[in-house]
Amino acid sequence: MRKLIKGIFLNPKSDYSVEVLNNYYLLIDNGKIEQIEKNIEINEVAFDVFYDFGDRIIIPGMIDLHTHIPQFRAAGIGKGELLEWLDNYIFPLEAKFSEKYFAEDSTKLFFKHLISKGTTTAVMYSSPQKQACETAFEIADESQVRAYIGLPLMDRNTPEILVQNTEQVINDIFSIAKKWHKKNKCEFVLTPRFALSCTEELLQKVGEIAETDNFFVQTHLAENKKEVQEVKLQFPDIENYTSVYDRYNLLTPKTLLAHCIFLNDEEIEKINERNCIIAHCPTSNKFLRSGIMRANKYINAGLKVGLGTDVAGGYCLSMLNEAMEACEVSKLLSVQNEMHDDVLEAESAFCLSTIKAAEFLEISGEVGNFEIGKKFDAAVFELSEVHKITELKEDELLRALMYKIDNRTAKAVFIDGNLVYHK
Ligand code: GUN
Ligand code: FE
Repeated sequence: MRKLIKGIFLNPKSDYSVEVLNNYYLLIDNGKIEQIEKNIEINEVAFDVFYDFGDRIIIPGMIDLHTHIPQFRAAGIGKGELLEWLDNYIFPLEAKFSEKYFAEDSTKLFFKHLISKGTTTAVMYSSPQKQACETAFEIADESQVRAYIGLPLMDRNTPEILVQNTEQVINDIFSIAKKWHKKNKCEFVLTPRFALSCTEELLQKVGEIAETDNFFVQTHLAENKKEVQEVKLQFPDIENYTSVYDRYNLLTPKTLLAHCIFLNDEEIEKINERNCIIAHCPTSNKFLRSGIMRANKYINAGLKVGLGTDVAGGYCLSMLNEAMEACEVSKLLSVQNEMHDDVLEAESAFCLSTIKAAEFLEISGEVGNFEIGKKFDAAVFELSEVHKITELKEDELLRALMYKIDNRTAKAVFIDGNLVYHK
């Protein structure tokens, strides 16, 4: 099947720039980009379908590096800081995922919304029940999203209704991974929820599995001040939070660390040395009053930084929103620190949520931007009526799209060249 797609393409590059392909044609053959052309004679091109998106904006499918499937129904509802919020809102909600139909309905709703916002690749937590994790994989697989999913591991400091048996949950990991790891577009991720929810025995075992089986690992790190203090109490002989994960060999180039707000220079250095990936979650960091991560400092230090919506710490599944928030909080930080030039620009934030994230997930040969030979994962958006497209300069298009907060739903979304959503 050959598809011809026309529109205004915003093409993020590895060097944090964004190329505008205004009124271009992409020819897609069997899901892959075969040609990128400005002027073509339509009569001379062989295609089966022509999607003329006119003056709509087409971007690569976005990549969410950190979010929670079961928490979607709590988006925007809870209050309080991290540890109370988990106890009062999140654990009770995740407990309901032991009901099969609730789990299925909620998971379908999550993926429907995720795709509608233009996200085509996501790294996610399921609910902590084995069955809920399997349901997440089944529905992700049907949705066609490139889905990296982990069963959150929690064998201590967890309400009785959710707490896992250490030995049993290790068996569950192997059983789920056997069925779903690298099946179609799905991948299993080792997921110690955070240091506070795991015994040392469990962390040790997960570190061993990570080493031998080369899985991605995801966890939370230094998100909230009280959490950091609590980690100090629970692991008194380990010098800092980052070293807790390092002690158990959990810091690798395939480790995704969400939040990373309260890190000292040694910890930043360690994460750099281990070449881990940081998932910056600015919306969640505001909502839970966690703090502001120093994104520019980390990026300039050479760390791998991507973006995550962290729903329901974050209240919005849109990665355009997350990219905007990353820019906005960096402005607050720059003013507070009197470093007025040290802000994250829209172009950088857009690259973090597309091509850079693809590089970190080691899939930039396949997706992340528009290049010949890559798969066509894309989302099509209409600009707001307040921005007349004819009056915008090319370098204003990205901001007009990113700051269009009235409606962040895509008009159309493609994965592997297949139309998976349209409105
Ligand atoms: N730390 C441990 N669990 C969670 C969670 O579900 N959300 C966030 N934001 N932080 C966590
Ligand atoms: Fe999270």
